[in-house]
Amino acid sequence: MQFLPHSLLMLLSVALSTAHPKCISQSQPNPIASQYPTDVTGTLNGTLALLPIPMALARSIIPLKYQILTSAYRSLLPDFPKDMYPALLQVVHDHDVRYGEYRLDDFSRASVEFPFVDLLNDGSTSFRWAPAMFMTSTNEIGIVGARDYGTEVYPAVFEPSCDAYASAPAPAPKGITYYKTQAEENFVDAVFATVKESGSMALQMSFFRTAVNLPSFANGSMCNHQTRIFNTSLSTGRNEAKEVSGTVKVQLPMFGKEMGWVDATGVQVDTAFIEKHLVDCEDFRGFQYEDERPAATQTGSSSWETFATDCNSSQSTILTLSTIFANYLITAAKQISI
Ligand SMILES: *[C@@H]1O[C@H](CO)[C@@H](O)[C@H](O)[C@H]1NC(C)=O
Ligand SMILES: *[C@@H]1O[C@H](CO)[C@@H](O)[C@H](O)[C@H]1NC(C)=O
Ligand SMILES: *[C@@H]1O[C@H](CO)[C@@H](O)[C@H](O)[C@H]1NC(C)=O
Ligand SMILES: *[C@@H]1O[C@H](CO)[C@@H](O)[C@H](O)[C@H]1NC(C)=O
Repeated sequence: MQFLPHSLLMLLSVALSTAHPKCISQSQPNPIASQYPTDVTGTLNGTLALLPIPMALARSIIPLKYQILTSAYRSLLPDFPKDMYPALLQVVHDHDVRYGEYRLDDFSRASVEFPFVDLLNDGSTSFRWAPAMFMTSTNEIGIVGARDYGTEVYPAVFEPSCDAYASAPAPAPKGITYYKTQAEENFVDAVFATVKESGSMALQMSFFRTAVNLPSFANGSMCNHQTRIFNTSLSTGRNEAKEVSGTVKVQLPMFGKEMGWVDATGVQVDTAFIEKHLVDCEDFRGFQYEDERPAATQTGSSSWETFATDCNSSQSTILTLSTIFANYLITAAKQISI
């Protein structure tokens, strides 16, 4: 596995960080608020990506008292390399969050999370450990709320500030999007390109649907549960999840150094959610996510070869993206210098 520095992304950020748009999101409204007036509901639009990390690294980050339920994620990603663990990147925009008459301001959040962790030590109930999160700095309610779980929250700035991601401007081709967040020295920089359906999409979607539907925790005192719904108009038809691949760069204390992934695979999708706050984690003992479209019923060959992320197999994509950005940056730099 190769962790590459991506000075390109830094340059791209510099070139783009001039606009301060008003916070009007392109995301569609919450379609389930009236259906669940006594629950917190909302929408999460953004990118979910699989960040393969060596199991030894995962083991050094996830507290030793929690086992990793390897067979649970292997059943979803059968060909995932043996000595690797699938960390989950969520870079999303929270839009139209409602609770009865109350409406929360939109905000963004980004995190690297660790699904399939055995919080209750029962050998079977999967939780998602989400120890740290970037969150829009003005969203005090959200920041306090996340800290209630013992989450390390980084009040951050996001670009774009009011959307799930933004298209890289011309002359970058259509389908290239970026998303970045920064809080002092910590950051996430992501650039994704839509890719043609690769055949591994069905399996990958099942992994993402399951991972984001697991109850989550930070220091383990309380749990949070978002039921992410993938069958509303936000996630179907013309809004069907789009398969993406791209480069991700992360600086977070948990890693101890800057991390980079090339050819990280993921999906861009908007989802409605119902959220239960500060739930006793015991209540989830035996919890199982029932996927509405389980991977076992899907056909299509899967190839996780790129997950070995040796530099060789990734070379073609990074070169393509680099070329695109080199072209784009030259143009952007010219515009700035005029
Ligand atoms: C999700 O966000 C993207 C980027 O802003 C936007 O183009 C798309 O329409 C949004 N999806 C939905 C269903 O609102
Ligand atoms: C977890 O964090 C919460 C909120 O800060 C705190 O009240 C609680 O004592 C912490 N629990 C543990 C086990 O550290
Ligand atoms: C939509 O998804 C939800 C949650 O995943 C599920 O409970 C519901 O049965 C699904 N509805 C349809 C019509 O498939
Ligand atoms: C890349 O390919 C070369 C030659 O095929 C090989 O020697 C090298 O070990 C490969 N690198 C990685 C990281 O697998």
